Amino acid sequence: MHWDPTQYARYADERGRPFVDLLARVEAVAPRRVVDLGCGPGSLTALLSSRWPGAVVEGLDSSPDMISRAAGLATDRLTFSVAAVESWLVPADADVVISNALLQWVPSHVELLRRWAAELPAGGWLAFQVPGNFGAPSHVEMRSLAASARWAGSLAGVLRGEETVLALDDYARLLMDAGLAVQAWETTYLHVLPGVDPVLEWLRGTGLRPVLAALPAAEADEFTAALASRLSLAYPPTPHGTLFPFRRLFVVGHKP
Ligand SMILES: C[S@@+](CC[C@H](N)C(=O)[O-])C[C@H]1O[C@@H](n2cnc3c(N)ncnc32)[C@H](O)[C@@H]1O
Repeated sequence: MHWDPTQYARYADERGRPFVDLLARVEAVAPRRVVDLGCGPGSLTALLSSRWPGAVVEGLDSSPDMISRAAGLATDRLTFSVAAVESWLVPADADVVISNALLQWVPSHVELLRRWAAELPAGGWLAFQVPGNFGAPSHVEMRSLAASARWAGSLAGVLRGEETVLALDDYARLLMDAGLAVQAWETTYLHVLPGVDPVLEWLRGTGLRPVLAALPAAEADEFTAALASRLSLAYPPTPHGTLFPFRRLFVVGHKP
């Protein structure tokens, strides 16, 4: 599926906050190798290099467009490669493995987390953040429009529901069962978005992409116009901007 780094970066500040909050709970002091899985355009991966200048930092992403954007940030200790996480194995010196807003795109991620926790070296950290907003009006409206008579024929099975991510305690249990000490929490960020139809613009960079990929351009325009009216009722503009609450789940595991 195609990712557009420019559209994704429109809300870079809002999308970056959870990464910073996640990283704050990773207490590695002098990791040898740090890997950012699903690194996107690489700007957040670069924060890992600033935090641990002595580490080799690698960003991996399956999107060539994202990696070609990230490549501009590469240094001798910060590299980026196109790779799908499904076949990635934890290197023996990977003391920090981090992934921000990736795993909801990977249906097999529960199995992968189990494997990565087992492969992680002693003393290593495995930290991830996933959105917990599949029941929010933004996603409910997308799914209900996709299921309507007009779209059900073209969009059946294209959008995933609340089963996309586990409950927070299930993620915590999964890593604890693998022998890791776990910190897990959730946060709802209240984003205040400027401009016209900002929730639609946000979704165009992420959750709406499977729909846009499944429809010819004219139909994609028709779908997004109908979605825009639903979203403006669910998230009415205020004099301050559009208030967009966004719940996220955080899990940090540390192997003794
Ligand atoms: C929502 S973006 C997150 C990017 C970055 N981590 C951030 O927080 O800004 C999700 C990224 O995951 C990547 N991705 C999706 N499925 C993947 C997979 N199976 N293997 C590797 N990367 C994947 C996409 O290409 C995209 O860049």
